[in-house]
Formats: sequence, C-alpha cells, structure tokens
Amino acid sequence: MRRMKSLRIARLVQGLPVYLNAKTVMFYVTHDAEVETGQLMKHAMLDGKNVALPVTDKDSCSLSAARIRSLTGSLAKGAYGILEPRKECSIPVRASEIDLVIVPGIAFDGRGVRLGFGKGYYDRWLSRIPLRKRVALAYSFQVVPRLPKSAHDVPVGTIVTESEIIRATPIRKEQ
Ligand SMILES: Nc1ncnc2c1ncn2[C@@H]1O[C@H](COP(=O)(O)OP(=O)(O)O)[C@@H](O)[C@H]1O
Ligand SMILES: [Mg+2]
Repeated sequence: MRRMKSLRIARLVQGLPVYLNAKTVMFYVTHDAEVETGQLMKHAMLDGKNVALPVTDKDSCSLSAARIRSLTGSLAKGAYGILEPRKECSIPVRASEIDLVIVPGIAFDGRGVRLGFGKGYYDRWLSRIPLRKRVALAYSFQVVPRLPKSAHDVPVGTIVTESEIIRATPIRKEQ
C-alpha cells in the first residue's frame, strides 16, 4: 500500500513546474514511515537532473547537501542509521545551487508547518531555501488540521500526498 501511495506521490511531484524546471533536486532517503523516494530519485537521475541528498552533522544538528552520481554504492549509514552519501562518492552542493528540496516529515498541517525528527535538522537547513522550493511528501494520514508552531519552525510551501497537492496557506508574521 505504501509503495502504491508513494508511486502516486512521485507522479504528482513529477508534474510540478518546480520539479520539471529543477536542475538540482535534494531528495531524502526513506526512513521508517516516510514516503518512499526510490522511484523519484531513479527518475530524476535518468532525466539528467543532479541528485543531492542530506548529510547529517550530529554535533551541530545540521544538514548539508551532497550530490551523488549513482544510487548504487554511493550511500552508507550515517547518524541515526539513515543512509547518506559517502564522502568519496559525492560532491558538496551549496544551498544556493538547489532548485528544489523534497522534505520528509512525521506530520504536516495545511499551513505547511512540519513535525520532524524533533531535533530541528530541517528547520536549520530550510531557512536557507526559499519557500517555493520546499516541497514535502506525506501520506494523507500525516496531514493533520493544525500542529503547534514554534518561532524556529520553517514551513514548507507545498505538500504532496497520494490524493492531492496542498498549497500551504501562508502564515502571517504576527501569528
Ligand atoms: N533554526 C534553528 N536555530 C536554532 N535552534 C533550532 C532551530 N530549529 C530548531 N532548533 C532547535 O531544535 C529543537 C528541535 O526542533 P523541533 O522544531 O522541535 O524539531 P523538528 O523540526 O525536527 O520537529 C528545538 O528545541 C529548537 O531549540
Ligand atoms: Mg521544527
């Protein structure tokens, strides 16, 4: 079921102008209940896009991005047991070079507020990426009416589920 839903989500992403126009896309490697990205990454590679993945720095609870040339043999387990690019198989990519970040999460609300791993990794990284380039993938059951939002939480602009593309309603500054 997850595989089917993930394929539907992939198809919807592949039709988004921000994806179609992207030269460099930062994906994530699926962990636990997150939407599967394998098919999306394969498609992007075949399409000639630059595929980047997060590299975690546990000391600073921050992410950086690294580009891989192949999906096989380029990854090794990093912090929290999540696969990430091996140094010798990847090239660092600056935030400014990334045209689209595909964002994982535990839950989202209609404003694009995200509940993550609980350590703020993506909040720190996404603060360097414009809102329209932040696209989250979620199963529809992961979209809830409203999540608590802290000042440091960085929302996404779009959430793609197996049933719809949700354009996040903007959060006013004073909220
Ligand atoms: N941009 C940031 N700058 C400094 N600290 C941050 C930032 N984002 C998150 N944090 C810290 O990380 C902790 C976890 O963030 P939280 O939003 O709860 O996690 P997540 O987004 O992974 O669900 C927070 O208590 C916060 O202090
Ligand atoms: Mg957060």
